[in-house]
Order: sequence, then C-alpha cells, then structure tokens
Amino acid sequence: MNDFDRLASVYDLDMGTKSDDIPMYVRHAEDVGGPILELGSGTGRVIFRLAKRGFDVWGMDSSVGMMSIARQHLAQLQDQMVGQIRFVDGDMRSDIVGDTQFKLIFIAYNTFLHLISRDDQLSTLKNMCQMLSDDGRIIIDIFTPRHRDLSQYDYHRKELPIYRGVYQDELTGKTYVRNDRIKLDLVNQLQTVEFIYDKIGTDGSIDRESHLVSSRYVFRPEMELLLELAGFNLLELRGGYQEDSVYDYHNSEVMVFVAEKK
Ligand SMILES: C[S@@+](CC[C@H](N)C(=O)[O-])C[C@H]1O[C@@H](n2cnc3c(N)ncnc32)[C@H](O)[C@@H]1O
Repeated sequence: MNDFDRLASVYDLDMGTKSDDIPMYVRHAEDVGGPILELGSGTGRVIFRLAKRGFDVWGMDSSVGMMSIARQHLAQLQDQMVGQIRFVDGDMRSDIVGDTQFKLIFIAYNTFLHLISRDDQLSTLKNMCQMLSDDGRIIIDIFTPRHRDLSQYDYHRKELPIYRGVYQDELTGKTYVRNDRIKLDLVNQLQTVEFIYDKIGTDGSIDRESHLVSSRYVFRPEMELLLELAGFNLLELRGGYQEDSVYDYHNSEVMVFVAEKK
C-alpha cells in the first residue's frame, strides 16, 4: 500500500471538490484536441469533467486505492462518456501508454512534486515527450515555493498542526476535521505533510487517521531547466488558471508551465 492508497478514501471528500483549474484544461483541450492523457489522475477529478466536454481522456495512476475509486466512478456512468475514458495502472516515471500519441498531456494540482529525485523528474518528462504528438502540448501545475513561507514553516510551525477545514460525508453522516503537520527540509527541498483527519461519528465518537505524503518543491528556474533537458520549449508560464494570468513570484500561488516539443 502506498501513501496515496491510504489517502484515497478521503480524497474526493476533501480535494476532489477543487474545480478552479478545470476551465484551463478545457481551454487547452479545445485548442489542441484529443486524445488527452493525465498522469497521476487520482480519482478522476479532471478526467470526468474533460470527458463530459466530449474529449477522449486517458488517466494513469500508480495508486491501487485511487484507481479503484476512479473505476467505481466510471462504472456508475451510463452514457457515452464511458467509451471516452480509459484508466491505466502505471507509474509515470517508468511507464508509457501504448503507441498512442497524445495532443495534450498534463500533470495537475502539484502531482509533479511527488517525484522526489532528479532522475524521477527527468524520466517522467522524457516519457511525456515520447507520448506527445509533434503538435501537442503539456501542462504542469505546481505551487509557487516562496522563501518567506518556507522559512516560516520551517522555524515556527514545525510541530504545530495547521487547521485546513471541515468536511461532511453525506453517505456516512461522519464529519471530518483536517489538520496538517508540515515538515520541511530546506536543504533538499523536501516537504512532508501529515494529513490528520479526525472523523467524528454521529454518536460523537472521534476516530483519527493520518497519512504522510512527501513532495519535493521546485523553483521556477529549476522547472525551466528540467523542461529544456527533457526536450521541451516553454510556451508560457502562467500565475493562475485564467488565460491571461501573468506569473508574479510575490502574488501567484501557482506556476502553470505550458510547453511543446522542441
Ligand atoms: C494530489 S493527487 C492528484 C490527483 C488528480 N491529479 C487531481 O488533480 O485531483 C496525486 C496523484 O498522483 C499519483 N501519483 C503519485 N506519484 C505517481 C507516479 N509516480 N506515477 C503515477 N501516479 C502517481 C497518486 O497516486 C495520486 O493519485
């Protein structure tokens, strides 16, 4: 069982509600067409919304738990969308999806940061290059690491859980309260987040589960260099999900890299 298998049961309730990035993927999909591939597709948050817009979409993920939920969602669909969606078990660092050449390949919502070593980052990008059609593009969405925030987490908040929110599970009637404990290794750019969920039952009982997820944050020039080394030309760097979002280190929460094959 990997870290994401454990997180899978609460993923939809918590992070599965994110939707602010969807119009951006739809916009790019409309520009270049399908087929489309998402690496690290999780429970299918983006995949299903793109299929709904008529695109052929593939999702690859290495977590059995995440894929099992994605396939349950797929099994519940009864319309033509079923034929547009394919889920493939695989590790983006080492696996290629058949012979298909994709027009759009993306890695959403900080998923690229789960690649911890330089080799993992480069092999993934090279795999993307191999699976991308010559007129296609890739998108990678990661958060902006700011020195000010990183040093604050490192020195002041090391052991203190940070409140993230309350989620209501309509199916079970349980309430989930989430707090995160963040540990940083500034030298190696490593961040370990302990997601702590307190499940409050209808009888008031509290059951705690926690999940550790590691990531390696990446700075802008580093990402630009990785893309270049893997065979990409950077087309644009956006600081948000709007078409005209300008990237600004101080104010942009995210860095959205859009690139094409050299
Ligand atoms: C933060 S979740 C994001 C899920 C989805 N992309 C979304 O935006 O909702 C990260 C996903 O990446 C997957 N993942 C992490 N490392 C991976 C790898 N090396 N190969 C394939 N999937 C991976 C995890 O299993 C998890 O489902």
